[in-house]
Parts: sequence; structure tokens; C-alpha cells
Amino acid sequence: MTGIPLGDLGAEFGPEATPFDAIGGEEAVRDLVDAFYDYMDADPVASTIRAMHVDLSVSRNKLFWFLCGWLGGPPHYVERFGHPRLRQRHAAFSIDPEARGAWMTCMQSAMDDRQINGVLRQFLDARFEHLASFMINR
Ligand code: HEM
Repeated sequence: MTGIPLGDLGAEFGPEATPFDAIGGEEAVRDLVDAFYDYMDADPVASTIRAMHVDLSVSRNKLFWFLCGWLGGPPHYVERFGHPRLRQRHAAFSIDPEARGAWMTCMQSAMDDRQINGVLRQFLDARFEHLASFMINR
């Protein structure tokens, strides 16, 4: 579920073999995650999902660790916590279509900020949409 079937994407991304490389490695993933939670913290559209989070510094690390592996980079999350089982880990939170929309709005803004465009953006749009929809539990 959380692995990315790369298929022919290696060719589409050019010489880079994984989305992790295409985005720019760990530093770029960290920047994306920071921008994402900055939006969640500040954008009124995200106030309901912001309230579900306690310590954003914990969230920042966890999402960073997760995304590195999910994009085909180092498996930091799995090394620390085992299989992500993300739907199960989100079961305690009330995630309806509106919450999913707020999460995606923050991620879209963060990707705009980081100027993630082209094939990589299309790929990430689709993958984030898919996973965020999978989290809906209400
Ligand atoms: C659809 C709307 C979503 C909402 C409302 C939501 C909300 C939350 C909340 C409240 C937490 C617990 C606080 C924390 O540990 O940071 C959490 C954890 C987490 N979320 Fe989400 N999330 C959503 C979607 C996603 C998506 C799409 C991803 C991945 C791309 C994701 C990745 C994670 C990860 C990796 C954790 C840490 C899990 C753990 O180890 O406990 N979330 N999320």
C-alpha cells in the first residue's frame, strides 16, 4: 500500500531513479514537510486538523521519515516504527472528506512553495490524493 510501484517512472524522471532523488533528497523532503506543517499551523482552512496534532515537531519528524522511504529513499520510518500501517495509525482521528481536503490544501501549498512542478508534481499529486483518500474513516 505504501510502497510506490515505480514502473517506468525512472525513465520519466530522467537520470534520477526515484521520486526521492527527483525531489532533491533528504533536504528537499525536510523543506517540503516544514512548509506543509507551517501551512497547517497558519491556514484557517486547516484549523480542525491542526487541533488533532499535539506537538508539530514530532509530526514533522515522522512525516519526514515516512516520506523519505515512501518516495524510494532511506527507510527511516520503518527502521524506527516498523510497517507504517497508516490507516490504522490514523484510526484514532476523525478524518472526513473535509479533513482530507484540508490536508491536501496544505500539501498543495507546500508543493507550490517548493516549486515542485512537471512530471514529479503530477506523480506526487496523484500519490498524495490516493493516500489521503485512503485515510478517510468517517
Ligand atoms: C487525510 C488527512 C490526514 C489527517 C487529518 C492526518 C492527521 C494526522 C494526525 C492527527 C496524526 C497524529 C499526530 C502525529 O503523529 O503527527 C498523524 C500522523 C501521521 N500522519 Fe497523518 N493525516 C492525514 C493524512 C496523511 C497522509 C496522506 C500521510 C502520508 C502521506 C500521513 C502521514 C502521517 C504519518 C507518517 C504520521 C505518523 C504516524 C505515527 O507514527 O504515529 N497522514 N496524521
